Amino acid sequence: MKKVLVIGSGGREHAIVYQLSRSKQVGQIFCAPGNAGIAQLAECVAIKDTEVEALLAFAKENEVDLCVVGPEAALNAGVADVFREAGIPVFGHSKAATQIEASKEFAKELMAKYNVPTAAYRSFANYEEAIAYVRERKTYPAVLKYDGLAAGKGVVIAQDEKEADETLRDMLVGEAFGKGKVVIEDFLQGSEFSFMAFVHHHRVYPMPLSQDHKRVFDGDKGPNTGGMGAYTPLPFISAEEEKWAQEHILQVVADAMVAEGKPLTGVLYGGLMKTKDGIKVIEFNARFGDPETEVVLPLMESDAYTVFHAIATGEALEAIAWRKQATVGVVMASCGYPGAYTKGVEINGVEDFDGLVLHMGTKRQEEKLLTNGGRVLMCIAHGEDVRHAQQKVYQEIDKIHCTNLFYRKDIAHWAL
Ligand code: AMP
Ligand code: GLY
Repeated sequence: MKKVLVIGSGGREHAIVYQLSRSKQVGQIFCAPGNAGIAQLAECVAIKDTEVEALLAFAKENEVDLCVVGPEAALNAGVADVFREAGIPVFGHSKAATQIEASKEFAKELMAKYNVPTAAYRSFANYEEAIAYVRERKTYPAVLKYDGLAAGKGVVIAQDEKEADETLRDMLVGEAFGKGKVVIEDFLQGSEFSFMAFVHHHRVYPMPLSQDHKRVFDGDKGPNTGGMGAYTPLPFISAEEEKWAQEHILQVVADAMVAEGKPLTGVLYGGLMKTKDGIKVIEFNARFGDPETEVVLPLMESDAYTVFHAIATGEALEAIAWRKQATVGVVMASCGYPGAYTKGVEINGVEDFDGLVLHMGTKRQEEKLLTNGGRVLMCIAHGEDVRHAQQKVYQEIDKIHCTNLFYRKDIAHWAL
């Protein structure tokens, strides 16, 4: 029986652990650092996701057969490089390949070089030049992207010159971001969606399409969050459009990364937009999306160990099989999120939920389940179509009780 180490502590990692726990080949799962939900399926190990040497030492000592890396911070810290060098199969890109997410400029240059459709852009390291360009362009909103991992805070859609000026000062002059560059690009309009694929070098295996809900309140109002819910499949993208995006975006980028000497070995996440001029790239991520993974991965029928191991090592893999079902997932978040919130509030009734509850930020103390983050639980239900899955998830979610949690009541509204 195989031993697997999963790195990370959110809902995405719970989905990965859940899927691995269903594999007949897997005997033991470790998760570093994990959370209270993951602890029901895996042995949680108190090592942070960026403590590269400690993770490697643990993997060696416990003779793990495979390591699966969740968060971009771990990839960017070089976890996959160190494991690969030590000869341990690892699902996750090298630090060099993670640039597709970690550097907006790298991603934009790659797309320009290989003709991948995306918004026109220019990049700047100097505040005066950047603001001069914004003034000369005079087109608003202006999209300003900090060139580095900024935990979801690196993109500002500036509505006027004043906002653009403040943002550029923050990003290029102030201390808030660290000295980097800013990409300034055209504002695109259309429906955003997520297209994830398993990639090993030239080989690309698409996952079902999904859509995230970034704003905190119903009707897509309020500030951006890490994502308040997700669903699959998407009625507004045809099979032809999906095939086109796979061939002209994901496959082209996989091939381009090999050509650039930075081959992919993990997930390529395309944040795409269907515009009136066709499908374009908003961003790439070098990892599973969160919360998209929580609705997509449970639909995988193929053995998860076989899939992750084949992507890690490059061994032959047949097409991946997916259950043709709709899934809706609703995030329960701490009151106040994405601003300040309290932790440590008791949650009851999770076991009564008929469906799947994946933990995003929880801990257990003296048998009690407590909130331990901004996004706390992801409640998931399946159905024959999106409407049924949505009805089911909202019917069941009322069984979960916590005085400090809230959730959006309209997840999947674009599909209905
Ligand atoms: P990113 O971190 O690149 O995904 O950007 C965060 C969000 O900003 C995206 O999900 C979009 O909603 C929005 N966004 C980014 N780039 C653009 C663009 N060029 N045009 C319109 N919206 C954008
Ligand atoms: N759901 C958006 C992301 O994972 O970046």
